[in-house]
Amino acid sequence: MCGIVGYIGQLDAKEILLKGLEKLEYRGYDSAGIAVENAAGVQVFKEKGRIADLRDVVDMTVDATTGIGHTRWATHGVPNYVNAHPHQSASKRFTLVHNGVIENYHLLQDEYLQGVTMTSDTDSEVIAQLIEHFSNEGMTTAEAFRKTLTLVEGSYALALLDAEEADVIYVAKKGSPLLVGVGEQFNVVASDAMAMLHVTDQFIELHDKEMVIVTADSIQIQKLDGTVVERAPYKAELDLSDIDKGTYPHYMLKEMDEQPAVVRRITQKYENEAGQLTIDPAIQQAIQEADRLYIIAAGTSYHAGLIGKQYFEKLAKIPVEVHIASEFGYNMPLLSKKPLFIFISQSGETADSRQVLVKVKELGYQALTMTNAPGSTLSREADYTLLLHAGPEIAVASTKAYVAQVAVLAITAYVVADQPEIELKKELGIAANAIQSIIDRKEEFAKLAESFLATTRNAFFIGRGMDYYVSMEGALKLKEISYIQAEGFAGGELKHGTIALIEDGTPVIALATQKEVALNLRGNVKEVVARGANPCIISMEGMEEANDAITIPHVHPLLSPLAAVVPVQLISYYAALQRGCDVDKPRNLAKSVTVE
Ligand code: F6R
Repeated sequence: MCGIVGYIGQLDAKEILLKGLEKLEYRGYDSAGIAVENAAGVQVFKEKGRIADLRDVVDMTVDATTGIGHTRWATHGVPNYVNAHPHQSASKRFTLVHNGVIENYHLLQDEYLQGVTMTSDTDSEVIAQLIEHFSNEGMTTAEAFRKTLTLVEGSYALALLDAEEADVIYVAKKGSPLLVGVGEQFNVVASDAMAMLHVTDQFIELHDKEMVIVTADSIQIQKLDGTVVERAPYKAELDLSDIDKGTYPHYMLKEMDEQPAVVRRITQKYENEAGQLTIDPAIQQAIQEADRLYIIAAGTSYHAGLIGKQYFEKLAKIPVEVHIASEFGYNMPLLSKKPLFIFISQSGETADSRQVLVKVKELGYQALTMTNAPGSTLSREADYTLLLHAGPEIAVASTKAYVAQVAVLAITAYVVADQPEIELKKELGIAANAIQSIIDRKEEFAKLAESFLATTRNAFFIGRGMDYYVSMEGALKLKEISYIQAEGFAGGELKHGTIALIEDGTPVIALATQKEVALNLRGNVKEVVARGANPCIISMEGMEEANDAITIPHVHPLLSPLAAVVPVQLISYYAALQRGCDVDKPRNLAKSVTVE
């Protein structure tokens, strides 16, 4: 959610910043901007829309080797030119980009900035104006920046230019991700390493409430009390090809195609030398010692958590509650005596989940994060981490990370179980093959999307048992990328109200992969068909019937979500495509939601 880049060195900053922003665009794409600095001062270029729109307004003749950039997902202020970053102070001496939310910006404005005319509706501009305010009182830029950081409440990743110091970028972080990248005679700033992989793979992690003074050949990290911190860089284990779309038209398609490989990779990563599935013994012990697991997550990760509950309860016999992160903070249930919290988060940066983690740690409980992002905030702040090993997920709609979450949850529950009644490694291999064979039938899904979803206003997904959770995920996928109003329901629940919405032609996508409830589910399909619905039944080998739209290969019933989710992902993808939607960057959304 919002991306930040910065460059200071010997080369043309504009192109490096624009390339970096293109890599980060999936994090926010309402508007974008860069500011470049040379001896003549700072020049700002910004535009509503995508990085491609920004490119059109950047004066490529400006010669500058220092600069900062931003791609925005609007929080305060509508997405327009004025609210796009970078923001400048009244005299234009200070220019900054900001990711995060400043909660007390109105109070700070009232206290310190009476008489200063704001040019935007953003909380971010207040930071630039405050720095100028303190600078006008005689502070150095570093002092004014530090003073401002001690006053702001909320979250920030910041990069700041001072028009009077062309050879410095000031940087700070609290609650929002930010890294400093190290190069030969240059240094960079990035909210995600992938933004600057084209110039370096060496990055220094920043901690909350740290401020950094970055020049072309030095990086000085300070705590807010001025204490200098030494920290060595690490090598980003990312390959440029991992974040490249290659010949694919969309990242989402590429990422769906990677799903069989992701399941196989996870199986290998969680295998010991004897070829048995294993997890860190400390995590195994923490789970086994807990009297109840509390899974906290949002969106797609929440849907994976619902499946995880089944795994822990069915295989390991440990009771589990699954909670939506944004609700948990103020709707906290009565906790058990020895809870363990499991945070499921692809990005590891979701603010809703993080605020729960902070609270849980304050209460003295243990936490485990399952994430695709090593070194992410949720990973660093939890006691334990299990990695998803899905590789970077760039499409805003999560696909391979969901499959990875389900697989890692299955492995974790299996490892902590006493005598699990499943040969999980073998079954995961079968599931990977099943996913592959579904993916190989793409034209069928394109046709299904055309016949069921081309012109519809709404659609329903139904399922029972595990299929119910996959229905919820299918509905989320469809609505977020195709803008078709879609809901996922437990098959038996429709008749308690929602069936009133069924009319002639309403698409109902029914998942029937759970043997013990398949007949009941088919009964629900008959109920909606009797009211005019257009049914699309997705069944599994061994329980298929003549008019089923798709039959997926047989997989173990516990692992059916791994395979059953793929048809609904593909149908959603093709529906979005056929309706002319921007599949990878759906409207109003951003990857990695770092605001509450
Ligand atoms: C939907 C989607 C979101 C995320 C949610 C949580 O396709 O991707 O619903 O699952 O924003 O994000 P993470 O998993 O990064 O915490």
